[in-house]
Amino acid sequence: MNGKAERFLAAAAQAPDAGIWVEVGCVRIPEELQSEGWSTVHLSVAAGGRGIPFYSVDKDANALMVAQESVQAHGDGHKTTFVLDTGREFLGRNEQAIGFLYLDGGGGPGETLAEFMEAERLLRGNAIVAIDDCQSHGGFVHGKGTDLIPYLISGGWNVEWFDTGGEYKMVVADRRGTELPDMHQRCAKETACPT
Ligand SMILES: C[S@@+](CC[C@H](N)C(=O)[O-])C[C@H]1O[C@@H](n2cnc3c(N)ncnc32)[C@H](O)[C@@H]1O
Repeated sequence: MNGKAERFLAAAAQAPDAGIWVEVGCVRIPEELQSEGWSTVHLSVAAGGRGIPFYSVDKDANALMVAQESVQAHGDGHKTTFVLDTGREFLGRNEQAIGFLYLDGGGGPGETLAEFMEAERLLRGNAIVAIDDCQSHGGFVHGKGTDLIPYLISGGWNVEWFDTGGEYKMVVADRRGTELPDMHQRCAKETACPT
């Protein structure tokens, strides 16, 4: 299994039994590579195994078709719904409580923050949020999480950085004070976190 999947599955395992799972940014390659999370396939299996409804949202119809076929071939479509939309639009109209939110869209730091802000009102108190590609890149100090991470920290979330292979980093956030495996680094404040 690839390093990104190991991390978001560990994060999702901490999510409550109640509340839907949502990913923004679906699988776009029909086989697993070390550089890709293959998130839709892995999360469909994990959510399906727990009987949790899982929504995979992507604005690209071709990517969504690849994701759907990949889940049919390798995953668990039983509880998986594919949504052709932007993450922001879907999360803005969603009315179901969310237990796990995986942000991996390609819209950049501002869009990632906007997605979270649309989801925020429906995040359960013990919800888990994971943000992929939080390594410094494209001039953004925390990649996709550059705008969202300070917002989370100022809102009292615990924010943790994980290496997921190569230069890639994923951030996992919760409000529970839950002890996670030793491989993580807990950041008391943003300036203490690796970039
Ligand atoms: C990095 S890929 C996702 C990879 C996937 N999560 C995986 O683990 O294999 C990013 C995806 O986000 C989609 N995307 C970009 N902007 C988006 C937006 N605003 N809303 C929803 N999806 C978006 C792209 O079409 C692309 O399929």
